[in-house]
Amino acid sequence: MTPKIELHLHLEGAAPPAFIRGLAAEKKIDLTGVFDARGHYAFRDFGHFLQVYEAATEVLQTPDDYRRLTRAVLEQSAENGVIYTEAFLSPDFCGGRDLAAWRDYLAAIREGAAEVPEVEMRGIVTCIRHFGPDSARQTALCAAETAGDFVTGFGMGGNEAIGSQGDFAWAFDCAREAGLGLTTHAGEFGGPESVRQALDDLRVTRIGHGVRAIEDDALVDRLAEDGIVLEVCPGSNVVLGLYPDIRRHPIERLRARGVALTVSTDDPPFFHTTMEAEYAALNAAFDWDESLFADIARTAAQAAFCDATTRQRLL
Ligand code: ADE
Ligand code: ZN
Repeated sequence: MTPKIELHLHLEGAAPPAFIRGLAAEKKIDLTGVFDARGHYAFRDFGHFLQVYEAATEVLQTPDDYRRLTRAVLEQSAENGVIYTEAFLSPDFCGGRDLAAWRDYLAAIREGAAEVPEVEMRGIVTCIRHFGPDSARQTALCAAETAGDFVTGFGMGGNEAIGSQGDFAWAFDCAREAGLGLTTHAGEFGGPESVRQALDDLRVTRIGHGVRAIEDDALVDRLAEDGIVLEVCPGSNVVLGLYPDIRRHPIERLRARGVALTVSTDDPPFFHTTMEAEYAALNAAFDWDESLFADIARTAAQAAFCDATTRQRLL
């Protein structure tokens, strides 16, 4: 089996439910409404998903909580044959965008990563769109101040329905000047126009999801011609209701049109998925085989926000 490279994974969103429940018990925090009767994260739709995500994150309070979280998440990645992962890290949840606090959280996250040597990790510091452009500016400053061998990217997640990509141009310019790779969630709940704005206004080289570009032929051609890499998370898109099932997901059509793609899990326990499950579903739905998965791994290595030596090792 080809070793896997994952470029789109939210650190808090990857928290195993049992881990969150354990921390809640230690800290005596009431998580009513976060889990269903079977102990899975419970949400009705995307807006509710974001609320439940933020509620679960409340148990993550100290740098050491983040060390333990990072370790638990990477252990799951290792079990799924992942050798390299880029995780979205949110100063909004780690010290409230205060630079000194952020440095402490980051050091703890790096410690947790070092405890799982099977997986090489890099951090993409991520602003949250529905927290607004001012928060994003402070997040970008945290990213720029800590850019280096571990923090190698800057991104944006959150509710794509709020504002436009261009509202966050200052933050992305700041991160670009600091030498960080750039990605933003676009073409998930926003349509093709959101992907265009990401390219024109934020000048990203990768797009989180991007799948709704399929609704616009000229945009698909542009993505293919410009070598923009999509971080596609099929299981996430199906559970969040973008497509009724994986057979209807546009990943195979995008690939056939020459768009560069990678495969990730987004928030695996929320979407009842793993990297192994995503690969198995793509094999079952579209007959993707080992040679195609090797192409996907090569694309991911080339698009990874890492140094040339690490990239060479992944290729
Ligand atoms: N944050 C965590 N998961 C997300 C997703 N799928 N879209 C936007 N923001 C997110
Ligand atoms: Zn995401």
